[in-house]
Amino acid sequence: MRDGQLQTARERLAAANTLLIVTGAGVSAESGVPTFRDPKGLWSRFDPMKVATPEAFAANPKAVWEWYDARRTQMRDVKPNPAHFAVAELQRAKADTYLLTQNVDDLHEQAGSPQAGHIHGSIWETRCPAEGVVRPDRRAPLPEIPPKCETCGGLVRPNVVWFGELIREDVIDEVETFLGRHGEADVVMVIGTEASFHYILSWANQARGASGTLIEINPSVTGITPAADIHLQGPAGEILPQLV
Ligand code: OAD
Repeated sequence: MRDGQLQTARERLAAANTLLIVTGAGVSAESGVPTFRDPKGLWSRFDPMKVATPEAFAANPKAVWEWYDARRTQMRDVKPNPAHFAVAELQRAKADTYLLTQNVDDLHEQAGSPQAGHIHGSIWETRCPAEGVVRPDRRAPLPEIPPKCETCGGLVRPNVVWFGELIREDVIDEVETFLGRHGEADVVMVIGTEASFHYILSWANQARGASGTLIEINPSVTGITPAADIHLQGPAGEILPQLV
């Protein structure tokens, strides 16, 4: 990474009033949460079709819940890293920000982020498909697998978005409202994501528009890199504190 790029990113951020921050698994990597598509990521060890689809859950809810229970147990004691804290500081410092995360952990909240739109849901919530009720549940490991709805007794599922499902509508509305308010953000930061989903690419590009600056923080080249004005190539936990 060139010092000039870091300096330019610092200046653009300092001057920005409106800021869209998009995060992915990479922002939690230094906290010890595995990513998905890295060589040692979750999708190199597990077939997403067997653990992260409605069909897999219908066929074998116990196996799917065992996978989520293991992830919850692994994530139970992880702590936010300097990247999460820097994001929270930026949110507090700027007039208007929106934090869009693809992560199902709650490390942004733990770091003090005043707002985080979880477009893929939360691993710390269950949802009863029969009643539509969402409940927080931080027990890990769970005492019973698969867990049951406390009112109707039916199976509950993790309140996460699986492959083939619609992303969270309330978060879509929030992003669209943010974009509608500004047309363009002064700065768009895309941190620790492969940006492999079209809505992530499209929102980031839309928010950057003609006059904004798109800053990517990622050790690797990703789907968003060709669109980035500045690519700060390195770990988020090291780079973000230098920017804030
Ligand atoms: P990926 O696993 O696809 O990408 C993780 C990104 O983080 C990669 O680009 C890495 O280079 C980068 N990375 C790794 N360590 C980093 C670090 N210390 N600092 C900064 N970046 C780092 O994860 P996502 O793009 O978040 O969805 O994946 C998006 C979605 O795909 C997930 O939410 C999940 C998955 O399938 C669902 O389960 C619905």
